[in-house]
Amino acid sequence: MGYLAGRTAAVNCALHRFLPTPTAKPATIHRAMHYSLFAGGKRLRPALCLAAAAACGGRESDAMPLACAVECIHTYSLIHDDLPAMDNDDYRRGKLTNHKVFGEGIAILAGDALLTQAFEIAARCKGWTRYSHQNIVLEIARAAGSLQLIAGQVADLEGEGKKISAEKLKYIHERKTSALLCCSVRLGGMSANCTPAQLKALTTFGYNVGLAFQVIDDILDVTQTSEQLGKTAGKDTQARKATYPSVVGLEKSRKIAEQLTDRAFAALKSFQGKALALKAFAGFLLRRDR
Ligand code: IPE
Ligand code: IPE
Ligand code: MG
Ligand code: MG
Ligand code: MG
Repeated sequence: MGYLAGRTAAVNCALHRFLPTPTAKPATIHRAMHYSLFAGGKRLRPALCLAAAAACGGRESDAMPLACAVECIHTYSLIHDDLPAMDNDDYRRGKLTNHKVFGEGIAILAGDALLTQAFEIAARCKGWTRYSHQNIVLEIARAAGSLQLIAGQVADLEGEGKKISAEKLKYIHERKTSALLCCSVRLGGMSANCTPAQLKALTTFGYNVGLAFQVIDDILDVTQTSEQLGKTAGKDTQARKATYPSVVGLEKSRKIAEQLTDRAFAALKSFQGKALALKAFAGFLLRRDR
């Protein structure tokens, strides 16, 4: 997608500015942080953040630090998700996983450091008029904390090998993935001093796109090759994970992803012409093949 391709270079450049260089001492940890952060992630969350800011008439420079903070949290969550004690994956973003290159100890610490880095980036921001630093930090902490992202990861681990209801599965996906995607969109709006009504619309959009995103991630795990995904395909079946295809079947999973995307589209109506990038994004995420 044109918008995504256009924003990726800007996001990468900003991430380089916000992070200690790979040679900063101790070099091992900074090399490990850079390794995963610049391994070729799609940068969907930062681009969503920037698109949400644009929909509210904001400046990219005001949203960029928050876009980068979210990508740091996302990358940390992937490093830890891949650890032997969690999903035990050898490949991520088309490269060996962090622990395969740096060892488990450094991989754990690189995740910790990226999580902390996100809050440092947010705290260094010059500030916004309608939303305080407290609002922004709370937003990130909630999405990444033990009631959202971590709650989802806990339930995901505890669901392995078990028969899970569709309701429980939705609980997992809302938390492990939708929460941070929704947070990215909301932060974009907040950086643009969005109105409470706009924030509400962005929340509905982000929630639905975020849930659809994980449903599609589950679908891709069973329909794509490892080469295409840059991570080992078929892992969910192998690990007996609770996924949409395993609980409701592939066809129904596709239908659900479409329905959620339609709901996301509907939430953008109030933005009239201004949410073009966000709208294109939701369509692109539904059709993605990696
Ligand atoms: C993968 O996210 C993990 C999920 C939450 C499904 P992405 O598919 O956005 O991964 P990258 O950032 O492009 O590697
Ligand atoms: C990852 O979900 C969710 C988080 C990292 C919070 P998955 O375990 O499905 O992601 P992949 O398939 O390994 O990318
Ligand atoms: Mg996982
Ligand atoms: Mg995983
Ligand atoms: Mg997955």
